[in-house]
Amino acid sequence: MANAFLIGPSVYLRPLEREDAPLVAGYLNNPAVRRTLAAYRPLSVGQEQAFLEALATNEQNVVLGVVSRDRDLLIGVTGLHRLDFRGRHAEFGLFIGDPSYWGRGLGTEATRLMLDYGFGTLNLNRVWLQVFGHHASAQRVYEKAGFRREGIQREQHFVEGRYTDGVLMGILRAEWTPLLPELREALKTPASREN
Ligand SMILES: CC(C)(COP(=O)(O)OP(=O)(O)OC[C@H]1O[C@@H](n2cnc3c(N)ncnc32)[C@H](O)[C@@H]1OP(=O)(O)O)[C@@H](O)C(=O)NCCC(=O)NCCS
Repeated sequence: MANAFLIGPSVYLRPLEREDAPLVAGYLNNPAVRRTLAAYRPLSVGQEQAFLEALATNEQNVVLGVVSRDRDLLIGVTGLHRLDFRGRHAEFGLFIGDPSYWGRGLGTEATRLMLDYGFGTLNLNRVWLQVFGHHASAQRVYEKAGFRREGIQREQHFVEGRYTDGVLMGILRAEWTPLLPELREALKTPASREN
């Protein structure tokens, strides 16, 4: 677990390096991944390198790579964006860029790790996001992590030749169930659990 920053049972989150740019750009250009993201422009490796380098000094974003613990492979990216320390809120973002990892609970785990960091470390009061109305699996992930549907922006987005709604979701600090206690239990060895 090189440079692990937040650690879950199946994934860990770590800072992204310039060297990660080719993999991340490849994920974001993949039509299967970007079709459910707001990103629509082609992304060069150079552009992604510049983005990653600028992150180091960017106070409004905390962006971390999602790494699968089974193969120590960078499989996605997650972030808290537009951090507002007066209103104490941030916008959540996530993609698992390797589709062979979809449906294994890893997106939910990464979301919960970021909520623990946002509420438990950054002392946020609210985390929010926007998701396409037809993107059922993402909405399910966010609901599992504790987000609630807050509203609909009708025909807000144009995707694959048609308009789709934007669904606004949010979670307040008071609604957050920390993953950490569960994690501590899950990461205990059988011997230490008896103590
Ligand atoms: C959306 C995304 C983050 C989900 O990640 P993931 O690791 O596959 O998510 P999880 O495995 O934790 O959970 C997926 C859930 O969606 C459910 N699901 C999958 N397809 C579904 C569908 N068509 N309708 C309803 N639920 C669906 C799964 O059954 C699972 O729920 P369950 O645990 O109750 O069974 C991932 O597919 C992704 O990154 N896609 C591309 C980029 C993207 O869309 N990012 C989000 C932008 S808002």
